[in-house]
Amino acid sequence: MCGIVGAVAQRNITPILLEGLKRLEYRGYDSCGVALHVDGKLQRSRSTSRVTELQAQIDQTGLAGFTGIAHTRWATHGVPSSANAHPHFSRERIALVHNGIIENHEELRAELSTAGYIFESQTDTEVIAHLIDHLYQGDLFEAVQQAVKRLSGAFAIAVFCRDEPHRVVGARLGSPLIVGVGKGENFIASDAMALAGTTDQIIYLEEGDVVDLQLQKCWIVDNQGKSVQREIRTVHAHSGAAELGPYRHYMQKEIFEQPRAIADTLENVTNIMPELFGDKAYGIFKEIDSVLILACGTSYYAGLTAKYWIESIAKITVNVEIASEYRYRDSVPNPKSLVVTISQSGETADTLAALKHARNQGMLHTLTVCNVTTSAMVRECELAYITHAGVEVGVASTKAFTTQLAALFLLALSLAQIKGRLNDEQEAEHIKAMRHLPVAISAVLALEPQIIAWAEQFASKENALFLGRGLHYPIAMEGALKLKEISYIHAEAYPAGELKHGPLALVTKEMPVVTVAPNDTLIEKLKSNMQEVRARGGELYVFADADSHITASEGIHVIRLPEHYGLLSPILHTVPLQLLAYHTALARGTDVDKPRNLAKSVTVE
Ligand code: M6R
Repeated sequence: MCGIVGAVAQRNITPILLEGLKRLEYRGYDSCGVALHVDGKLQRSRSTSRVTELQAQIDQTGLAGFTGIAHTRWATHGVPSSANAHPHFSRERIALVHNGIIENHEELRAELSTAGYIFESQTDTEVIAHLIDHLYQGDLFEAVQQAVKRLSGAFAIAVFCRDEPHRVVGARLGSPLIVGVGKGENFIASDAMALAGTTDQIIYLEEGDVVDLQLQKCWIVDNQGKSVQREIRTVHAHSGAAELGPYRHYMQKEIFEQPRAIADTLENVTNIMPELFGDKAYGIFKEIDSVLILACGTSYYAGLTAKYWIESIAKITVNVEIASEYRYRDSVPNPKSLVVTISQSGETADTLAALKHARNQGMLHTLTVCNVTTSAMVRECELAYITHAGVEVGVASTKAFTTQLAALFLLALSLAQIKGRLNDEQEAEHIKAMRHLPVAISAVLALEPQIIAWAEQFASKENALFLGRGLHYPIAMEGALKLKEISYIHAEAYPAGELKHGPLALVTKEMPVVTVAPNDTLIEKLKSNMQEVRARGGELYVFADADSHITASEGIHVIRLPEHYGLLSPILHTVPLQLLAYHTALARGTDVDKPRNLAKSVTVE
């Protein structure tokens, strides 16, 4: 989603800003821009194309300067266009970039229009630039502190002023913003990754902070206007632009990295113990009587899978909520519940808000399963399990999901242990199976040629149905999400038993029905559901287990997964669904790593 980079230095910062934007590209955007302080004036370049296009524009004009800001925009208010792209100017004096959404922008727009400001864009952002200009009396830091008090919603902003050439001011509330501390120069960005290679000395600004960046100075005030010191951390942020190696897309690379990612995620697991989730986990796990999982998208499906595991292995009640719903819902809080957020990025606005909502209701025991150690989610939660998937560049989540599942399985076992529901023999068996996961996943990846053949048939379809039962219903949902996200084929997932209650009406010979069919206790029920599909002419594409006795026949295509440990089957059954989505998208010629309208890190509501 939107990205910010800014700098105040004594050298030309254009390459730093452009490099920062490139590092943020993976988050998804539809326009971009740079503004610099040049010879006592504001100058900018904006593009509705990629950052490389913006760079070409800048190379032509020779735009260069010592102080400036840059942005990648993911449209919320106003179409993707040059006029709506950031940075926004006010009266050729203030330049500003913004991540987030200003909810009272209409009211402010009316007020500022009355004050004589002319609006050039349809964005909510432009009101902030004009508001700061309106309040400006020679001190930008002061004007920004005044302005943010008038804003409702979420924002991270970086601003500079024509009349103060060596100063950039930033502020955040609800959207992440970091400061990069250099020697005689300072930087600001929405993500430490944007500054990789420039500085590794990072300050994570807190909610309500406003920062004044000058060449030798980095001064922060909190939301009360009180001067505060924030810790400087050494952060080795990896570039999002990881090497593709032999792969055509990051998504393909990330699918094939799963054996390594799972091995890294489980590296320190020699036996089951709550301390894997943090020093205080033992006491907290002992005290809690239920679990509340909050997440969005793919991470939500990981949460749904965890519900099956935790309830069946640890016998603890689990509720799983879509974060964007939970944050606004009247729910009944249980202070003895463990609140678990699941997030690849650790910056998802809805999940962070849902966490805050739970805490405000007195639910203070919080754990996150997250892939980014330095993220807001990890900082906000009492306990954390870091998945070691490595940077995920493809917008469609793959290795982040399967590593989340591995971590959540471990959580189920740890809770079971503490509640006295796991004996030594069971523990040893589960650990052995987890250790074997990388090998088991590699065997599933070897099915790729068979899946490519199916993908060629899927490429001409416009709709698909995914079926699963029990533990594999969330996996069917994940398979449908992957397919729709990157191939733009409309896909729905249903628990197979629900077919006859409605979706069966959709089944014709044009409707491919993907069935996740592990050899579990529900397999015979699932086979009956498959017959219901066949009887209506539906074409079945079945991912079966080696020993599930499902055979291919007319209208029934079968790919068999190698033998594996039943409880971990959701992890293994995810992999062919990822490959099916990937190869179908490839056959349809879509932009696999950057699907239309989507962003990697969803930092607005
Ligand atoms: O970073 P998060 O895990 O919190 O992100 C949540 C969703 O936005 C994310 O899983 C999204 O659904 C993916 N694009 C799915 O592939």
